[in-house]
Amino acid sequence: MDGKIEQGKPRRKPRILPPFPRRLKWLHVQSPAMTQDPSVPVLTLDGPSGSGKGTICRLVALRLGWHYLDSGALYRAVGLAAAWADIDLSDAPALVRCTFDTDIDFRDRTDESSGGGEPRIIVNGVDATDELRTETAGAAASAIAAIPEVRAALKDRQRAYRRPPGLVADGRDMGTVIFPDAAHKVFLTASAEERAERRYKQLSEKGVSVTLPGLLREILARDARDANRAVAPLRPAEDAVRIDTTGLSIDEVVERVLALVPAR
Ligand code: C5P
Repeated sequence: MDGKIEQGKPRRKPRILPPFPRRLKWLHVQSPAMTQDPSVPVLTLDGPSGSGKGTICRLVALRLGWHYLDSGALYRAVGLAAAWADIDLSDAPALVRCTFDTDIDFRDRTDESSGGGEPRIIVNGVDATDELRTETAGAAASAIAAIPEVRAALKDRQRAYRRPPGLVADGRDMGTVIFPDAAHKVFLTASAEERAERRYKQLSEKGVSVTLPGLLREILARDARDANRAVAPLRPAEDAVRIDTTGLSIDEVVERVLALVPAR
């Protein structure tokens, strides 16, 4: 070899990557897919408000020994942080900044003794668990969830929950947008009346004062907004198994969902 480049071989320009720490960030920003490991199994459970997803997902995650993503809590937490910061719900750029800046920490209680009890949710250092469960927080979440930039800002954050040995993901677009390659997809429904009753019971037990007709109205309004928004509307993935939970006990639903995950 005389140092000349052989004929026929393409002369490549060396690729210049940023130094190591910046490179990691660069890869993260350039390729959201890299924030998740596609070999980790995912079970998605989507459905309208009050369909029992939260309870079912927690119990299923506990039985499988998998991680649990409550994506609705992320939207609720951002909605709450925005309210704390007096951000107008029509100010999309400020909401996106708020989405990136909000620190959300789930203090897990998914040990057997808690029976899959709800984790505490710490938003910017404050335990906001009870405040996040109110219909006011649900409505704020639903309003910001209709903003495409906010949804985009939460994408990687949700995908980062995909860690071994597996993930149970609860939301509206888990099977359609966030984890379209999930091996197991479920769409849970229940009549609006039964969902309102369940929510009523849940909130009354927590000492939150609500009325059943008021809750039914709010649930129907939230369903309509979630199903009719332009981006990631609430709808079953084509390959999702639909389970109508009306009249079923929690245990019955859990068993039906678990039956979809083979060879555990
Ligand atoms: O599930 P949860 O009732 O906590 O969700 C609150 C609101 O957040 C929903 O009404 C919906 O508008 C929004 N959301 C969403 N996509 C998700 C989860 C929740 O748009 N994956």
